[in-house]
Amino acid sequence: MDGKLATEYSSWQKLQQLYDQQHEQLVLKQLFAESKSDRFQQFSREYKSPSSGDQDRILLDFSKNLITSEIFEQLVALAKEAKVEPFRNAMFAGEHINTSEGRAVLHVALRNVFASSGKQFQIKEEGADEVQGVLDHIKQFTNSVRSGEWKGYTGKAIDTIVNIGIGGSDLGPVMVTEALKHYSKRDLKAHFVSNIDGTDLAEVTKQCNPETTLFIVASKTFTTQETITNAESAREWFLESAKDKAHVAKHFVALSTNTKAVEAFGISSSNMFKFWDWVGGRYSLWSAIGLSIALVIGYENFEQLLLGAHEMDVHFVETPLEDNLPVILALVGIWYNDFYGAQTQALLPYDQYMHKFADYFQQGDMESNGKTVTKAGKFVNYETGPIIWGQSGTNGQHAFYQLIHQGTKLIPCDFLAPVETLNPIAGGKHHEILLSNFFAQPEALAFGKTEEQVRQELGAEGSKNEALVKSKIFQGNKPTNSIMFQKLTPKTLGSLIAMYEHKIHVQGAIWGINSYDQMGVELGKVLAKNILAQLPEESKVTGHDASTTGLIHYFQKNRK
Ligand code: F6P
Repeated sequence: MDGKLATEYSSWQKLQQLYDQQHEQLVLKQLFAESKSDRFQQFSREYKSPSSGDQDRILLDFSKNLITSEIFEQLVALAKEAKVEPFRNAMFAGEHINTSEGRAVLHVALRNVFASSGKQFQIKEEGADEVQGVLDHIKQFTNSVRSGEWKGYTGKAIDTIVNIGIGGSDLGPVMVTEALKHYSKRDLKAHFVSNIDGTDLAEVTKQCNPETTLFIVASKTFTTQETITNAESAREWFLESAKDKAHVAKHFVALSTNTKAVEAFGISSSNMFKFWDWVGGRYSLWSAIGLSIALVIGYENFEQLLLGAHEMDVHFVETPLEDNLPVILALVGIWYNDFYGAQTQALLPYDQYMHKFADYFQQGDMESNGKTVTKAGKFVNYETGPIIWGQSGTNGQHAFYQLIHQGTKLIPCDFLAPVETLNPIAGGKHHEILLSNFFAQPEALAFGKTEEQVRQELGAEGSKNEALVKSKIFQGNKPTNSIMFQKLTPKTLGSLIAMYEHKIHVQGAIWGINSYDQMGVELGKVLAKNILAQLPEESKVTGHDASTTGLIHYFQKNRK
């Protein structure tokens, strides 16, 4: 990360040569046959939580990738040449690595609060020393709501929370509260309203009682149109019953960096949970934005989530690149993204609780690394961030795996699964069936099924029907990572999220882009504001192309 385009690194050029010379011979079946059983040993790494060891361990098996030791070493050389290590250290030191906005990038400071756990990073940035104070506020508030001590305007305890936020102020809380549902307080219902489509708020308020509902307005900037509009409508809905504005204090809290706007909305600063401009929206679940998480799973579990992330931060900082989980994921990803031309990357958790994991990292990865210009202001001449998608197994198997197995596209996949289930069902079959699929899919993707095998299976029928034979061939050689963790604890989830956060960081560093701004979401917002002002009258609609004008006129003519 020194102003160079990635293609200018000698290690990148070496990787290009390796790809050109070797990719046709990179066949998983052969690579495994040649290395006997060593390949799993060679290309897998186990991470263990320093505080809880085996209970929170993560195994990364990356042996089913189209790599050799030579390629892996060259990928590690690329990370070195791109100065991934000094760039990582600069982030942890609080240097302003978000150069376009002149900000530090310090989501890691939000979990750097475990003096007793061994390692604390020395972070010098305004606000970094206030993190513990905000956590104390979250703890006190969470305990008071969960215990029933916090009362609504008619003296009843809170039984429903509604988080109003969008993007990073929604997806993290949604994903984590789902992932850690096992640890949740079941008599406290949690809803999430994000969409400006009034249906979102309307369907939630239908399920709420104003006397016992707490609204959490989550917005870093407190200017986001969707969130402020939804929050204003929620306040109107609440006041229809409560009447007196003074009651708002018992039912609305804010999570924001913008004290002025929070107060202007009518929420007192004592009901505001603060964070800082060095927390990016898509990295903010560890901050006050995690209040809904703490309310749902309890403060102690929220703290374990932070500890798991912090321990992964320490792993990321202290582990040599070739043994470093986020670095390995990043490098293997770059191999496909930039040399094989893969366009997407699937995240496939075989854990129903993690069904929002891919949605969460869609923003995390795509808003971070969906860039075309380097930090030095040059247009890239290589591919940057992949399209992230996926859903939980085995549901995905019955939806889109067909294309991964036999389609024309190369789709590298990360499979994730727990060794132990949190919900053993009597008879014990579910988890073993789930895991047998988790093991089988990467195996099928890697090794496929040959024409010879198909002919043998079909026997006489095969010789009569060539098309059937061809359609049953699985070419294989589809790369995957398999990630196994002991079980889905708050700490393990924290480590898994941090692992992917740092993977994004490493890829951004190699591509030389700023992973921490999001200029690409601005233009649409500005145009929508302009159009909103033109919607009342046809005569006001100016300055658009024929298609946009036609669409707006169609709406204006047909609305009731
Ligand atoms: O989508 C753009 C974005 O700025 C995200 O980065 C952010 O998570 C989201 O909008 C919400 O922003 P805020 O928390 O300021 O309302």
